[in-house]
Amino acid sequence: MSKPLLALLLLVCTATSQAASDVPNQIQSSVQACDACHSDQHNANSHTSSVAPVLNGMSDWYIEQQLANFQLGYRTGQGPDAERIQQAHSKEAISGDTLSLVADYYDELEHRFSDLTLSDTSNLNNGELLFEDKCANCHTSAFGRFLSDGPEITPLEAPYILQQLKAMQTEQRKFAEETKHHRKMVERLKDMSTQDLIDIVGYISKNAKSL
Ligand code: HEC
Ligand code: HEC
Repeated sequence: MSKPLLALLLLVCTATSQAASDVPNQIQSSVQACDACHSDQHNANSHTSSVAPVLNGMSDWYIEQQLANFQLGYRTGQGPDAERIQQAHSKEAISGDTLSLVADYYDELEHRFSDLTLSDTSNLNNGELLFEDKCANCHTSAFGRFLSDGPEITPLEAPYILQQLKAMQTEQRKFAEETKHHRKMVERLKDMSTQDLIDIVGYISKNAKSL
């Protein structure tokens, strides 16, 4: 084998082994467990009864906050797999330093914008009006998110967003530390029809990268 070819091969091997060892040793089994449902390699609809969002790029503080919400019973799994989902987020499955490391790991990965769409049709004009008036200030600018503790929602899967909006509207999804921002969002959702929610989600998923 020629020298340049050998050098290239070595480079490729090193790059591959680095990618494989990116997950710190002490959290490899946890990340494997989470990725069974949350991996960006899956079709989000194929592995549980409800959509597990891809965690890549999700803020570490938000991942930890949501795990606490599951563990304190403010969020629950939905559908026929509810128990399995609840178990996967329990204190026995993940807590303490392992949780912090897992949250840091996902935070540092690049966002993977979802291309999943809704099967229902949306009125994108209505979606835009509602989103810009009632949602954008807490979710799209970094400053708005900082003030409200709102997470980034644009990379999320459309069916997952709709599922969460319905859960928050009906108070199935609650908040361990309810703030005025949570109350404001839920109030706004309560004024909306299911079609309004579909329109908003359609608008978000069509324009995710520019919002
Ligand atoms: C059995 C499948 C499954 C496993 C395993 C699993 N999850 Fe989940 N996860 C889900 C589903 C489904 C949801 C959405 C639940 C809902 O409907 O609110 C979810 C939601 C979440 C959320 C909230 C995301 C958001 O945008 O609010 C976080 C954070 C999360 N999981 C982290 C983890 C971590 C960390 C692990 C590994 C320790 C893990 N999950 C393992 C299925 C799973
Ligand atoms: C006043 C600020 C505020 C407004 C307005 C607001 N939100 Fe939120 N939103 C939040 C906060 C804070 C959270 C975090 C919820 C939690 O702590 O569990 C959140 C969470 C969410 C989530 C869950 C994301 C996930 O990863 O699971 C979605 C989806 C969402 N908001 C969509 C919307 C939509 C659509 C609107 C407009 C109808 C809206 N929000 C209006 C502050 C706001």
